[in-house]
Amino acid sequence: MFQYLRWRLLLSYLTVMATILSLFGAGVYVFFSRSLYRELDKKLQTLAESAVPSLSEVKAKKEQYLKDVDRVSWGEILYRERQSVEWFDADGQPLVSKGTLNLALPPRPGFWTIERMQRPSQIRTFTIPVTGGDTEANSPSLEGYIRVSQSTEEIETIQSQLLWGMGMGAVTTLGLVGLAGFWLSQRAIEPVEQSFQRLKQFTADASHELRGPLTAIKASVDVMRNHPERIHPKDAKKLSAIASATSQMIELTEDLLFLARTDTPSSSLETGRSPIALNTILQELVDLFVPFAQEKGVQIDYQELAAVSIDGERSQLSRLFSNLLRNGIQYTPSGGRVMLRLTRNNRFAIIDVKDTGIGIAPEELPFVFDRFWRADKARSRREGGTGLGLSIAVAIAQRHGGKITVNSQLKVGSCFTVYLPLNAAATSSLPAGQRRELPLEGVRAQSMQTSK
Ligand SMILES: Nc1ncnc2c1ncn2[C@@H]1O[C@H](COP(=O)(O)OP(=O)(O)O)[C@@H](O)[C@H]1O
Ligand SMILES: [Mg+2]
Repeated sequence: MFQYLRWRLLLSYLTVMATILSLFGAGVYVFFSRSLYRELDKKLQTLAESAVPSLSEVKAKKEQYLKDVDRVSWGEILYRERQSVEWFDADGQPLVSKGTLNLALPPRPGFWTIERMQRPSQIRTFTIPVTGGDTEANSPSLEGYIRVSQSTEEIETIQSQLLWGMGMGAVTTLGLVGLAGFWLSQRAIEPVEQSFQRLKQFTADASHELRGPLTAIKASVDVMRNHPERIHPKDAKKLSAIASATSQMIELTEDLLFLARTDTPSSSLETGRSPIALNTILQELVDLFVPFAQEKGVQIDYQELAAVSIDGERSQLSRLFSNLLRNGIQYTPSGGRVMLRLTRNNRFAIIDVKDTGIGIAPEELPFVFDRFWRADKARSRREGGTGLGLSIAVAIAQRHGGKITVNSQLKVGSCFTVYLPLNAAATSSLPAGQRRELPLEGVRAQSMQTSK
């Protein structure tokens, strides 16, 4: 249970850390990319503006101007930076161009990003309309355009390096955080586990200590009741009330002691295991419960469809099925039936304890296996019982590697199904053709609950 808690804690911790890291990474990436593009735009704008005065000269000299430019050698800078400058006339017709990027697009004023199929995949351009000349007419005339472009390859490289770096960083961080979390969750769970163990030990000790005095009371009461002539008639009723309350308290302390002991991981079943014929246990229990059932006007049917043997502890298995049988009889009104059926599939012995009793409401079904839980109807029936019977049954089934499921309908009846793994000999003893696959789960869709 604590291991499960520990893994959950670790998983939640890692999820939170991963979310924080991804948000942080995304923030850094967006911020960085934006500033890189802003820098690029600034560069393009400066370049375009510095080329504006050259337009009239380009118009006049055309190619000759570029030859002069080459002498100045900023053409080389353009080449190195993967930039280009293009001059257009007022109609948008290209005049000359310098640089490595050939766009073959009409000029469009402003900043644009152009997607291309070939490399470089993206080009950022800035186009500036150049006006001037006729100042007397007060309306500046358009002289042409200057477009500067630069490939974004460099930025894309930086972006992918950033992504790589951050990805590797995140993985390393998560690994370290996982290790730290593993250690931290161990430290966090330890005190909880210890106090839980102390609580269980306390329950075990308290029930153990209570058992002695209670047994003494019961023995004394039994002795007194064996001599009714010595009891004042007025006290007879009180005495039987004491006897019944004492029996109930003994039962409760026994149940608590049992649960406290089965909760400890050290209390492994391995030592007490031996091959057990389930059919004999069930038959004995049926014989034992027949008088109780008859007294309540309930009929018990036992159907044995397979001789099944499992590895387990006899007294515990007996306790498991007697808890289920007692419930079946207890919660079934007179005239009803309790049916016990033993079958198997190739892995499990399957025992159904089905009754035609009061049933359990769907909203109450999830709680039936909880400790001390009793349906209100069950409480009001004054049938006795502690609310621990099913918890004990589940604990025993789980210690045998099995489980219990329940299917119930209010006022119709309940069916508790126990699955217990067969022992190795029994698993191989059945010829393949004879193996009857009984579905483990899913058939009883209605109001179905499985013990956790
Ligand atoms: N066969 C059944 N039919 C109807 N209700 C049941 C049946 N078995 C168990 N329950 C319900 O589950 C509750 C818990 O059962 P259990 O753990 O055996 O405690 P107890 O029998 O001592 O009350 C019961 O109080 C009852 O409400
Ligand atoms: Mg019970």
